[in-house]
Amino acid sequence: MTSTGEVLNSPVMLPCGRIAPNRFVKASMYEALADWWGGLPNHDHEGMYELWGKGGWGIILTGNAQVANDHLTLGRDIVVPEDFSEESCEPYERLAEAIHGPGKATEPHEKPLALLQVSHATRQSPQLVGGRIFAPPVCVSDVPLAPPDHWFGRLFFRLLFKHPTSPSDAELDKILDRFVFAARLAHKCKFDGVQLHGAHGYLLACTVSPKTNKRTPPYGPASLYILKQLVQRIRKAMPSDFVVAIKLNAADYVQGGLTEETALEHIKDIAGWAQEGYPVDLIEISGGTYENPRFLTSTRQALFSAFSRKALSSIRDIPNAPKIILTGSIRSVKIMMETITSGHADFVALARPSVPYPYLPWLIIDPASYPDKTVSIDTETGLPKLADEPSPWWNFKIPLFGAGVSTAWWVAFMARQSASQQKRRRPLLGKEISQLEKTLDPFWISFELFIGRRNAVKIKWITYAGFLLFLIFALRRL
Ligand SMILES: Cc1cc2nc3c(=O)[nH]c(=O)nc-3n(C[C@H](O)[C@H](O)[C@H](O)COP(=O)(O)O)c2cc1C
Repeated sequence: MTSTGEVLNSPVMLPCGRIAPNRFVKASMYEALADWWGGLPNHDHEGMYELWGKGGWGIILTGNAQVANDHLTLGRDIVVPEDFSEESCEPYERLAEAIHGPGKATEPHEKPLALLQVSHATRQSPQLVGGRIFAPPVCVSDVPLAPPDHWFGRLFFRLLFKHPTSPSDAELDKILDRFVFAARLAHKCKFDGVQLHGAHGYLLACTVSPKTNKRTPPYGPASLYILKQLVQRIRKAMPSDFVVAIKLNAADYVQGGLTEETALEHIKDIAGWAQEGYPVDLIEISGGTYENPRFLTSTRQALFSAFSRKALSSIRDIPNAPKIILTGSIRSVKIMMETITSGHADFVALARPSVPYPYLPWLIIDPASYPDKTVSIDTETGLPKLADEPSPWWNFKIPLFGAGVSTAWWVAFMARQSASQQKRRRPLLGKEISQLEKTLDPFWISFELFIGRRNAVKIKWITYAGFLLFLIFALRRL
């Protein structure tokens, strides 16, 4: 019988020739650690990524770096600068160094591959926090987000998301130029490659979805045309060993959106680009958009595994085909093993579990040398017990609202981990993590995301004190 280490700790060579030292991918997570209205990576990012850099991951993806500073997601996004300068490159270089880290590596190829995820938030960029006050966002076609089907959902969406405008072909080309620039920046600043964010309803995902790309040829209607142009331009601008990855949806899971059948055809087509001289190294499978954020709200284990298995088997015989990464609710070592041994994917990616346990691969591959001897492993999953997420009543029947609160909860956790690393303490481990999980209250965490931790704590105590005074006053009147 093959051991966990043999399967999950085995290296993989990518079509570009680079080697990922093992099968673990730290999936992309928006960190909310940059300045408000977008900024460069900073020491808080470095703190978190230093932890991941030492954790034994094969590939580490950054949170989405935005190519347009007026199309952010939740406001504190990493932004790709306008041009190269020492000031703009140095923070990116430090981030790449943090990722490559000292690790447990003895050979350069054993260090994790550092990939910068690049994105454009398009019609999902909210007003104000997204970097615009009155201007509408741009999308591939002027199709607005469909709000949930009740008054509160409609109000929520109306307040946050404006009707997008559709750019001219020349304007769209300029946005693609920004993606190419981001790849050049990543290379100059010592990243091993980029991941183009073509999932979750962001701009590149909109180009392949029939719901959002209604343009006339050649840019539309929905097809791989734009994505292919982009990959070709990046490949032409970069050395051949630069890693080019794409995150794609298995489906949009909304009426009129991308279906699994079409998504599967796309993956076969992309695999064929290698024959034309433009190989894609990795395709990460996810699914959903802000209209139905399945990637965050579903509790089903390995929810896109059936799709990724079909994807992998359909491209297996194509020379230099991309390697497949499966993401989404992978929560047991057994599932990780099955994913690789049964050919569901070449890599397993984890996002949320990597926050409390930045060293998770290390714990799985080599538990004897893991620094925290007190960590207790759940016998069913083979992993440490993971936090219960904020309670579902917060959803207010709007999945995006629940996903937002959950995101806030996780980014607050990342800020705490980063702070502990920067003070050169060891990361939070075992018992301290369970303690921290108890103190992360979804209501206050949502405030924390927007007004910072200190202010949130002040407001929390002022509110509690006010409530107590009100109670005393009310009781005295009885
Ligand atoms: C806090 C948070 C931020 C995220 N930010 C991104 C992002 O920037 N880019 C992206 O592709 N996915 C993002 N995701 C989605 C994850 O990459 C992943 O697809 C999803 O969390 C499911 O994986 P998991 O069950 O292992 O957490 C984010 C998820 C969380 C929890």
